[in-house]
Amino acid sequence: MTTFTINSDRLWGRLMALAEITRPDLPWTRRSFSPEFDRGRDWLRQEFESVGLDVSLDTAGNMIGRLPGSAQKNRPLMVGSHSDTVPSGGRFDGTLGVLAGLEAIQTLRENGVTLEHDIELVDFLAEEPSEFGLSCIGSKAMAGMLQDSDLDLQDGTGRTLREAMRSIGAVPEQLDQARRAENSNAAYLELHIEQATRLKSANVEIGVVTDIAAIRRDNVRVLGQTDHAGATPMGLRKDALVTASQMIALTEELTEQANEDGAAIVATIGRLELSPNAANAVPGVVEFTLESRSGDDDKLRAHTEGLLRRFEEIASARRQKVEIQPISCGTAVKSAGAVMQAIETATRDAGLSSMPLSSGAGHDAAYAARLGPAGMLFITCQDGRSHTPEEWVDQPECAEGAQVLMGAMLELDKL
Ligand code: GLV
Ligand code: MN
Ligand code: MN
Repeated sequence: MTTFTINSDRLWGRLMALAEITRPDLPWTRRSFSPEFDRGRDWLRQEFESVGLDVSLDTAGNMIGRLPGSAQKNRPLMVGSHSDTVPSGGRFDGTLGVLAGLEAIQTLRENGVTLEHDIELVDFLAEEPSEFGLSCIGSKAMAGMLQDSDLDLQDGTGRTLREAMRSIGAVPEQLDQARRAENSNAAYLELHIEQATRLKSANVEIGVVTDIAAIRRDNVRVLGQTDHAGATPMGLRKDALVTASQMIALTEELTEQANEDGAAIVATIGRLELSPNAANAVPGVVEFTLESRSGDDDKLRAHTEGLLRRFEEIASARRQKVEIQPISCGTAVKSAGAVMQAIETATRDAGLSSMPLSSGAGHDAAYAARLGPAGMLFITCQDGRSHTPEEWVDQPECAEGAQVLMGAMLELDKL
């Protein structure tokens, strides 16, 4: 039973300080590979070092703070999350997991507690979908799942992921060095905001994550024909945006239907670009990302493949073409029983209540699960809002999450 308490004001101060490192014109934005991301990491490195962590960057660009344990056990207890954000994102998604981990370590040190295991506190590279279309870049690489071909992906300016990784100090030619073996972690723990309202509705403080949904992303390019918007009669147009609109509406319709039929699937078109994007031109090319998620790998595959076939039918019925390029496809991941139990025990010790929850959001924990027993705990966020500037958590809830995180670390140290 933990008898000491984390420092709520210190944790809050750090959360707000890191949030302030944002694109000034678009709070709260710290995109991976941007100047703000670099500044955020410089700040984080100083904070890690001030707590006595030995900080290094692995070849995949993960920033790791290490604290030796007392028993020279050869498997670390890993804690982490990410410091990058979505465009115009929030102040807690990712940063809470990193900074609560730091707060837990600092509190342990101040109370003279050295864990038997080494602790590794990780700021994983680019958890959010980067400008290269890929997410969880650092945790994927650590699990040996970042492909060489991924490094050739380009952002809108033609820069490759390989070049971007080099610019932040990673060594993409030596990704193997960042790769960790199966079972190389004693355990992995990640604290995160829930990004939904289930905890609040149940009046429960801590969510014990049971599983993390698989995420699949496909790039869809609709090829119509650009023509003069005034001179081209309606019947002669090949408007790619109208074609894309039909695909988008069908995605919602069929996905709602799949849920009515008992599948738990979500599908979203959250990114779309059209060309030439001019008021007086018929849109000739539309490109968008279809993202679908489910805790059931088979249902996810069947549903997405069905949707993509229907996209082809829609395009050909409108005398247009569609090109589909798979970007990524993960698998659903279950949390380890031992980690869930440690979180439950720590929650009870802190005088709080917990409930099991599945995660529709993706997290680095899904890849860390390949390195040993992994699990996550959630705290509430206001109105479930996330990936928006309005994302908010009150200070006491952040402190509760950090307190339970620290308790769970102590529990897992016994493994
Ligand atoms: C991460 O935030 C995700 O679920 O996309
Ligand atoms: Mn996120
Ligand atoms: Mn996150």
